[in-house]
Amino acid sequence: MAVQNRLVTLNNGVQMPILGFGVFQVPGEQTEQVVTDALAAGYRSIDTAASYGNEEAVGRAIAASGIPREELFVTTKLWIQHTGEDTARREFDTSLRKLGVDYLDLYLIHQPLGDYYSSWRAMQKLYSQGLIKAIGVSNFFPDRLVDLIQHNDVIPAVNQVETHPFFQRHADQQLMREHRVQIESWGPFAEGKNDLFSNPTLTDIGSVHGKSVAQVVLRWLTQRDVVVIPKSVRPERMAQNFDIFDFELSDEEMTRIAGLDTGETVFFDHRDPKMVQWLGGRRVD
Ligand SMILES: NC(=O)c1ccc[n+]([C@@H]2O[C@H](COP(=O)([O-])OP(=O)(O)OC[C@H]3O[C@@H](n4cnc5c(N)ncnc54)[C@H](OP(=O)(O)O)[C@@H]3O)[C@@H](O)[C@H]2O)c1
Repeated sequence: MAVQNRLVTLNNGVQMPILGFGVFQVPGEQTEQVVTDALAAGYRSIDTAASYGNEEAVGRAIAASGIPREELFVTTKLWIQHTGEDTARREFDTSLRKLGVDYLDLYLIHQPLGDYYSSWRAMQKLYSQGLIKAIGVSNFFPDRLVDLIQHNDVIPAVNQVETHPFFQRHADQQLMREHRVQIESWGPFAEGKNDLFSNPTLTDIGSVHGKSVAQVVLRWLTQRDVVVIPKSVRPERMAQNFDIFDFELSDEEMTRIAGLDTGETVFFDHRDPKMVQWLGGRRVD
């Protein structure tokens, strides 16, 4: 049975599938098959990044799929090493070439580190030239997001941040809403940390609806109007994760899930100076 995805409308009118597919940590040699399987499962939005090292493989899968370009929503991200106005412009061209496309649907500043204001100026130009349908950011905490908005022309369409049952970002989402920035979750399953897939609350709610924990989590996020891009290398899980539009969580179930929030990352704090230094020194080519 064909599953109908939902679209969200970004602040510039561009429409984006609320459910997409992420390829972080999928090795280059496996990515073409994985993306081919994801497209066959019905995904049309693919999230990659220059730093994932698999843009070329994503591009091969897109080309082989025969799916018209306008039916796809392709996102990639600019790494810290390549911030700066000229460098960002060059890296954008490199990403386009690797992906085998002539425009991006969404281009994100991967981290609020390095000379990212210059990158944003380059991205604003590319956006005004029609080479990117929407520009956005990732891992921006509220202070960085508000500052970028205040001192630039284009408001980011999207902020992709860690968002899952243990780190729910309700206040951050509210702030983004006030600024008309769409929240997008990375790590919707917290990559399985804190035993997410056997969490008793999520398991219990799933059993009421005949759904898995993964489906409950994706349904909960999309019911909050959070864009999701779950990753899986397994076709049966891709199909399962796509099948979330035929049930609804009650207010009481949403409240129970809200109770799982710890308000903290399960990975690392992007504002920890040691982590800032580590990320800033990471070379991707
Ligand atoms: N902007 C950023 O800084 C940033 C950071 C991290 C991630 N992201 C993006 O967000 C995407 C998603 O986040 P993520 O990949 O970090 O983690 P995630 O989607 O939270 O979790 C992926 C893990 O869950 C497993 N899984 C998937 N579906 C499942 C299911 N139905 N049942 C049981 N296990 C399941 C996968 O295993 P299998 O693959 O073996 O199925 C994998 O181990 C990434 O791929 C990337 O595109 C962005």
